[in-house]
Amino acid sequence: DVPWHVLRDGKRIPQLGFGTYPMDDAEAETLIPEAVWRGYRLIDTAVNYGNERGVGQGVRYSHMPREELFLTSKLPGRDHGTDSVRRSLEGTLERLGTDYLDLYLIHWPNPVQDRYVQTWQTMLEAREEGLVRSVGVSNFLPEHLQRLERESGEMPVVNQVELHPQYQQEALRRFHEEHRILTEAWSPLGRKTDLLQSEWLEEIARKHGRSPAQVVLRWHVQSGIVPIPKSSNTQRMAENIDVFDWELTDAQMERLRMMHTGISGSGFDPSVHEEM
Ligand code: A2P
Repeated sequence: DVPWHVLRDGKRIPQLGFGTYPMDDAEAETLIPEAVWRGYRLIDTAVNYGNERGVGQGVRYSHMPREELFLTSKLPGRDHGTDSVRRSLEGTLERLGTDYLDLYLIHWPNPVQDRYVQTWQTMLEAREEGLVRSVGVSNFLPEHLQRLERESGEMPVVNQVELHPQYQQEALRRFHEEHRILTEAWSPLGRKTDLLQSEWLEEIARKHGRSPAQVVLRWHVQSGIVPIPKSSNTQRMAENIDVFDWELTDAQMERLRMMHTGISGSGFDPSVHEEM
């Protein structure tokens, strides 16, 4: 079983999740039961992935009781605001076919649009009403997080950001630690980079009789980061979750730390990127 972390708000979250980008409804519907049967409990989607209906159907096909699962979705930029947040959340719940989300994230800060503070306040209200258990953000920089705290009195419990051994986000992770914000990693395997081809990874993987992807995911878990790998292949799905009964040595963790290049795989910069 995947172990769980406890968030600052007292709620529990699995230490590794299943990513659903990019999957369409049909794919999500068949892959989610496969993932749940292999032990995944955290399922991560977003309005902008366009697959919430398929995710909802897949969750029902898995026959896993709702309370055993941890469902996350994300509010798109075009729905930042007040009433628009409520409408957007209602749509998300309807498409997923559930009464509540375990975690609701603001997908991007969209600082030019500059409506993320009122968006955040509306999400806090939705939490009070029980529509979402925990609230967090994605792709936020420390300046955005600080502004939320200044204007609402509350920091998110999760920030989901692009993060992998070539793009380690060390300064942001230190900020998160100080404020007890859990770091989730999107693109944890460094999609669009050559990360998995690295000789160093190969060598560490060989020593453990594991794959390079498993070494990377173990690095996340051992660093206290919750990785959300996506795989449409059932064998890789199983491989990716099999990272809880073995460990990297301190020297291997240090080796991985040195793989940082600072080059993002996506090229997105949250201080200017506006995602609608
Ligand atoms: P596939 O879906 O065919 O398995 P990320 O989560 O970093 O965005 O990475 C997702 C990409 O990595 C997908 O293209 C996925 O392809 C691939 N992938 C997922 N798991 C593995 C693995 N264990 N080994 C190699 N590639 C993987």
